[in-house]
Amino acid sequence: MEQYIIKGGIPLVGEIDISGAKNAALPIISAAIMSDETVTLENIPDVNDINVLLEAIEKIGARIVRVDRHTVKINGSTISECGVDLESMKKIRASYYLLGSLLGKYKKAEVPLPGGCNIGSRPIDLHLKGFRAMGVKVDLRYGNVIAGCDCMHGAHIFLDIVSVGATINIMIAASMASGRTIIENAAKEPHVVDVANFLNSMGANIKGAGTDVIRINGVEKLHGTTYSIVPDMIEAGTFMVAAAATRGDVVLRNVIPKHLEAMRAKLEEIGCEVEGGDDSLRVVAKHRLNRAHVKTQPYPGFPTDMQPQIGVLLALAEGTSIVTESIFENRFKYVDELARMGASIKVEGNTAIIDGVDKLTAAQISAPDLRAGAALVVAGLTAEGFTIVDDIGYIKRGYEDFDAKLRSLGAEIETVTSERDIQKFKLKVG
Ligand code: EPZ
Repeated sequence: MEQYIIKGGIPLVGEIDISGAKNAALPIISAAIMSDETVTLENIPDVNDINVLLEAIEKIGARIVRVDRHTVKINGSTISECGVDLESMKKIRASYYLLGSLLGKYKKAEVPLPGGCNIGSRPIDLHLKGFRAMGVKVDLRYGNVIAGCDCMHGAHIFLDIVSVGATINIMIAASMASGRTIIENAAKEPHVVDVANFLNSMGANIKGAGTDVIRINGVEKLHGTTYSIVPDMIEAGTFMVAAAATRGDVVLRNVIPKHLEAMRAKLEEIGCEVEGGDDSLRVVAKHRLNRAHVKTQPYPGFPTDMQPQIGVLLALAEGTSIVTESIFENRFKYVDELARMGASIKVEGNTAIIDGVDKLTAAQISAPDLRAGAALVVAGLTAEGFTIVDDIGYIKRGYEDFDAKLRSLGAEIETVTSERDIQKFKLKVG
């Protein structure tokens, strides 16, 4: 079982490149099969979720050529079936984007219903509501979504909840429906915009992505394209917090500063210095940081995917902070692990009350999910002693070379698989 071992207390200093956004690449890869021509995707992150999805579309017959770690060619002309297997769905929820792309292209799809996950129940009722509004017959049988129709038409859809997945999935399907679809109360995340830009580069006709009203005029065919994935704002935010938590000085390259405004504002509010360049951001923290209130919101608000990371940062701040999670119902599972490192946090419903402590001490902890896992690594980077993080497979689903990037900033962190490796690390770093 792979683990991270971390010797804490070292300020992160230096520069790193941010990878492409996992949450943009997943729907874009799913949508790429809608063309019968070759689609070349650049700047894709080399993370497990991406590799699992590429396997899933290869299984239904698409041709995949991995040019290099970050570039893939996809050709959907050889797709032989419109059913996604359970194994793929169990490994990665975002396989549900294949519902939208298979419906758009073939007007039929069969995809296992995604289960809940570590952060909440995460239904897809809004996705299905959108498909039904476009004339698709959707049945739920034996744990599968079985969807199809003779002609998928445009519709005027109002999303009851701002949902990234539902916005993107409906947009993908509507790009090849006949007629006009309007999505109201749409999600505005940068990865929603990236999917719209990608589809338009294939010949789709989508306007308004990034606002809460998206208009899609369906087209008959989508052609091949070459497209580069937007930088990952959550990976960038995670490293911003790591720089701040370790009182370091880190430059993030290959970012879009506009996407990081909510994180930047919060870090400056608690005492960090943040300098923005055209495609870079520098974070400096020279002293102990101050308390703050944080409430997660849909973009452009403070992202829920950054809630565990800011929770760790505030656990070390001066004073009492309050973090409210308004998107998911079970996203404080890192708190128990953090308490074992000396943090003082009380969770009441969807709110965490955090009394800042001077320092954290090392412990053996386990990653409860992707973002909480990354946040606990940040905690280990600050803690006195040797922290061991279990279940790092969660982290590898969404962060490319996480430990290597941290090492390039001076962190003492390694992936280990045995007690012998742990002892060797301790001897090496002393
Ligand atoms: C996407 O999940 C991201 N995942 C999540 O990132 C992210 O936390 C989330 O958006 C919010 O930004 C991917 O993009 C692969 P939602 P998604 O639909 O689309 C409820 C990570 O760490 N809802 O915006 O599933 C839902 O339960 C992951 O990278 C319904 O009720 O999120 C939640 O409470 C974690 N019915 C709220 O809406 C639906 O049909 C927002 O969910 C859909 C959603």
